Amino acid sequence: MSNESSTAPDRDSGLRTIADEYRLFAGHQAKGHSPLYEELSLAVATDERLLALLRALPPIKRQPNLLLAVARHLGAPLDPHGFPSWVVTRWDRVSSLMLSRLTQTNESARCATLLPLLAALPQPLALIEVGASAGLCLYPDRYRYRYDHDDVWGAAGSPVTLPCRTTGPVPVPRRLPEVVRRAGVDLNPLDPSDPEDAGWLESLVWPEQTERLERLRGALEVARSEPAHVIRGDLNEAVSRLVAQAPEGSTPVVFHSAVLAYLSPEARLRFARTVRDLPCRWISNEAPGVLPGLLDLLPEPVPSDRAAFVLALDERPVAFTGPHGERLDWFAGAEPARSAG
Ligand SMILES: C[S@@+](CC[C@H](N)C(=O)[O-])C[C@H]1O[C@@H](n2cnc3c(N)ncnc32)[C@H](O)[C@@H]1O
Repeated sequence: MSNESSTAPDRDSGLRTIADEYRLFAGHQAKGHSPLYEELSLAVATDERLLALLRALPPIKRQPNLLLAVARHLGAPLDPHGFPSWVVTRWDRVSSLMLSRLTQTNESARCATLLPLLAALPQPLALIEVGASAGLCLYPDRYRYRYDHDDVWGAAGSPVTLPCRTTGPVPVPRRLPEVVRRAGVDLNPLDPSDPEDAGWLESLVWPEQTERLERLRGALEVARSEPAHVIRGDLNEAVSRLVAQAPEGSTPVVFHSAVLAYLSPEARLRFARTVRDLPCRWISNEAPGVLPGLLDLLPEPVPSDRAAFVLALDERPVAFTGPHGERLDWFAGAEPARSAG
């Protein structure tokens, strides 16, 4: 996308670039996960009218995930023949929603990967999630868990059960963490009680992922019954204040997953410097290389056969995780909370 030239725009190569992005999405992301999205993005890649409309949007707003979620949100037919013309004829509505919405997928299942660290810290916890979206990861004590084929355990009566496959010596906890504060910050917090926001989060779930949709609905119910304090703002501006608000006697835990990639390298460094100096614990769960420095500390190579995040406590990597919380691959010798205190 960086081939956009302001001095000599080349229409054809611009369209080709967008078509390539949609083809890449079809072949690398949707394939094997969503046959429908695979077909729809291939259909977009060959529709010159739609590619030209997409080209008029800022590059960040042309992403396949955003177009597909917006079109579904507005009721587009999910067949590759009708989809492109449906979008083209309703472009005003589609483009205005693409401009106003962000892909803010909120995945409560990531709590299954955070739980071993959270449970090992001195209790009770004051949770501070930066880049919280609707805050659905702020309820690790309100969900139920199933690690591999073990029994389901966790919060009795919870509408959410999080399955997680593991390898390595995962310190699967025997108790839920005790949470005395749920706080967070997001550039655009989504309100679990707002039907528009909840509907948008549902549109971000890919069509065939019915289990994920069920989980999302359950997690929204949990969040509605016990609202978290999620403020609007930039994480770099807000994090110190949120840590300072942690109740006395609690362990403040700043955490984030699938967030720092949205920041510039400078903003990530600034965040790292700030959190390092705060009186808090720090759990990061981000794609490899997003937090500089962690790559050098990995005891194993980054998996090449699947997408993986790096889970770290206070900048010490402890595991690779599935990007949606579906697996946890613990490193030999990694202790959950070695530097507690
Ligand atoms: C992919 S979502 C992940 C949400 C949640 N952490 C989870 O794991 O489900 C990324 C979120 O980060 C937020 N975000 C991105 N940059 C941010 C910033 N500089 N300050 C605060 N929030 C930010 C976005 O608005 C979005 O809601």
